[in-house]
Amino acid sequence: MREIEKEKEAEEKKKMVRIYVMGKEYKVPVGLTIMKAVEYAGYRYIRGAGCRAGFCGACATIYRKKGDYKLYTALACQTTVEDGMYLVQLPFVPANKAIYDINKLKPTGSTILAYYPEVARCVSCNTCTKVCPQDLSVMEAINHVLRGDVEKVAHETFDCIQCGLCAVRCPAEIPHYHVFQLTRRLYGKHILPKAKHVEERLKEIKQGKFDAELEKLVQLAKTNPQELERMYETAPREKE
Ligand code: FES
Repeated sequence: MREIEKEKEAEEKKKMVRIYVMGKEYKVPVGLTIMKAVEYAGYRYIRGAGCRAGFCGACATIYRKKGDYKLYTALACQTTVEDGMYLVQLPFVPANKAIYDINKLKPTGSTILAYYPEVARCVSCNTCTKVCPQDLSVMEAINHVLRGDVEKVAHETFDCIQCGLCAVRCPAEIPHYHVFQLTRRLYGKHILPKAKHVEERLKEIKQGKFDAELEKLVQLAKTNPQELERMYETAPREKE
């Protein structure tokens, strides 16, 4: 009987890993994401969590593994726990963000450098690229900024989710994600051709074309939410 119990215990142990949150050890089930494991350990996220699906960039995490010199970075909602992880959740990254009026700016490299002169301090260590959870070529994009290629930067950083891990690890203190956001805004505002159909639809909205229809939906939400749900499910959609 004792043998069976011991075997059972050993089996159970195999299904758990040890993690350290704020230096305190917890045993959590194998296969959980860092985010779920931290919650399993009894913590509640107030900051540092958002979509829980790898899109919002709110859950930047730094960790070390026992006996490993390397400092790792990850998104807590996308990375599964490993035995011996020492975890630090970042509620946010305190990088400076420039204030500007995008309408008054020119879409050039000089504009970007005027707001973020740190870019010129890049030492080409490529750490930013290595830590990016989106696998973006971050350093290359910074080089495109230096060359003034706004369009290329905008395209190459389109998938940036603003987690800020690049800025945390940069020895030149570049806030890459803010630099890229400014660049994409410059591109969107001044280079990308305007979408005519969006302009027309905006005009129609402002003229009140959809007011009655919208009011109907608001009322339906109060009186018959099931019908509203059905309408949503069966509404015609653009083909992907
Ligand atoms: S919570 Fe949004 S990316 Fe992790």
